[in-house]
Amino acid sequence: MAKFYITTPLYYVNAKPHIGHSYTNIAADCLARYMRNILGRENVWFLTGTDEHGQKMEKAANNAKLTPQAFADKMVGKFKNLWQNLNISYNDFIRTTEQRHIVTVKKVLNILYKKGDIYLAKYEGWYCTPCETFWTKMDAQDGNCPNCRRPLERIEEENYFFKLSKPEYRDWLTEYIKKNPDFIRPASSRQEILSFLTSKQLTDLCISRPKKRLRWGIPLPFDSDYVTYVWFEALMNYISAVGEFKDGVYNSRWWPADLHLIGKDILRQHAVYWPIMLYALGISPPRRIFAHGWWLMDKKKMSKTRGNVIDPQEMVDKFGVDAYRYFLLRDIPFGQDGNFSEEALIKRLNSDLANDLGNLVYRTLNMVEKYFQGNIPEVSEQMTNDKKGLQKELPLEMDMNALNFSMVLKGIWERINVANKSIEDKKPWILFKENRLSELRYFIGLLVKAIREIARDISFFMPQTAEAIIQQLGKNKINKGKPLFPRVNV
Ligand code: ME8
Ligand code: MG
Repeated sequence: MAKFYITTPLYYVNAKPHIGHSYTNIAADCLARYMRNILGRENVWFLTGTDEHGQKMEKAANNAKLTPQAFADKMVGKFKNLWQNLNISYNDFIRTTEQRHIVTVKKVLNILYKKGDIYLAKYEGWYCTPCETFWTKMDAQDGNCPNCRRPLERIEEENYFFKLSKPEYRDWLTEYIKKNPDFIRPASSRQEILSFLTSKQLTDLCISRPKKRLRWGIPLPFDSDYVTYVWFEALMNYISAVGEFKDGVYNSRWWPADLHLIGKDILRQHAVYWPIMLYALGISPPRRIFAHGWWLMDKKKMSKTRGNVIDPQEMVDKFGVDAYRYFLLRDIPFGQDGNFSEEALIKRLNSDLANDLGNLVYRTLNMVEKYFQGNIPEVSEQMTNDKKGLQKELPLEMDMNALNFSMVLKGIWERINVANKSIEDKKPWILFKENRLSELRYFIGLLVKAIREIARDISFFMPQTAEAIIQQLGKNKINKGKPLFPRVNV
C-alpha cells in the first residue's frame, strides 16, 4: 500500500519560532495535504516536533531562571500555537524529552556499542555552542565558527565516538547517492555532499558530553557519567516517533521516511551522519532528503542567534494566514535563498490574491446573483469534454513531486488569468442584455466549474481560502460573503 511519511526538522526551543521555521512547516503541510488528496488521509503521516536537549537549551533556561524542562514546556507551547495559527496539519509532534524517544535512543546506543561502533577516546577540538557543533583545527582557522562566525570554545576531554569514518560506511553512502539521483535534492545539495564525501576525510563523530559539563541530556546506557550529544540523539526522532526496536530489529508501518524536509544549514547531519547511523543499525535510509534555501534579512540568514528575525505571528495578524503561506511558497523557488520584505508580500497580496483570484471569484458570484438569482447554472459533463481554454485542467503532479511550489502556483495563476480574460472576451453582460440566455448559462456554468477546480488546487497552499470559496459558491445556490482578500494600502 502506497504511503507517504514526511518530516520536518525538530526545532530548538531556546527561542521562539521565526519565519525560517514556519517556512519548512508550511512547505511540509502543503505536501502532506497534497499527498492526502492522492493517497487518502490514512496513508499520510506528517511529523514535526522540538529538539530540547543540549548546552544551548541549558543556557537559555538558566537565563530565564527556569529548569530546562519547565523552559522547554513553555517554549513548546509557542511552537504549537504558531502551527495551529498557520493551519499546519501535522499528525504527530515529537519532543526529544519524551519517553518514546529516550527509550529508542538508549536502544540504539546499546546496539552500536555492542557492535563496536562506539568507543571512548580523548577529545581535543573546538566547539560552537550556538550551532552545537564540533570543528577541527582546520575548520576553525581564525578561532571562529565557520558556520556562524562566532568565537569557538577550546575543549579537551574524554568522550565517546561513533565510527563514522569507517571506509565501508563512506563507500556505501557514496555509491548509494550515485545510484539514487533523487536521494538528496536539490541537485546543488546532492553535489555538495558528493564532493564532501570524496574530497574530505570523514572524522568520527563525538556523541557524548561529560555530565560535569552538561547535565541536560539523555544518559548513555553504558556510562552514567555521560549524556548523549544533541545531534546524535535528535536525528533518531524520525524513527522513535513511528516505530520501535524488538530484539534489536526496528519495526515501523511508516519507515523509511519518504521525505525529510530540512533547511540547507543542516544538510550534512541529514545526508551524511543520519544515513550512516541507519546503515550501521541495519535500517534502510530515508527515500529523499530535500534541503531548501534560507530566508535572509538584509542579505544575511535570518536566525534567532543573530537576532535579525521576523515573527511569523505578526505577519499572520497583519496580512492573514493564507497571504503569508502563499507569499513564502510563491515568491522564491524552493531550494533558493530569498530576501524577506513586507513590501514584496503586500505586492503579491494586492496583485495575485486581491486582484486576480479575489476578483475572479467576486465577479463570478455577482453574475450568478444578478443573472440567475443566485442559482448556479449547471453544465453537463458531455458539454465540457473539450479541455481547452477555460476548461484546461492543470497537471500539478510533476512540479509538486519536485517540490517546485512556485511553479505550481504560477501554473494555477495562469489558469486564473485565463478565466479572468474569458470574462472580458465573452462579455456576459452583453449576452444578458441581448437575452442570449443559454449561451450565458453555459459560460457562467463553465466559469464556476473552473473556479471549483482552482479552489481544489489552491487548497494545499491556502486551505482557508479554498474553503471560503467553496462555501461562497455553495452546492447549487451561492452564499456571497466578504471579498476574499481586501487590498492592503501602503
Ligand atoms: O537545526 N530560512 O534546529 P533549528 C529558512 N534542532 N529556513 C530556516 C531559517 C531561515 N533563515 N532558519 C531556520 C536545528 N530555518 C536542529 C535540527 S533535526 C533532527 C534537528 C529552518 O531550530 C530550516 O528548516 O536551528 C532549518 O533547517 C531549521 O529551521 C533549523 O532549526
Ligand atoms: Mg539553527
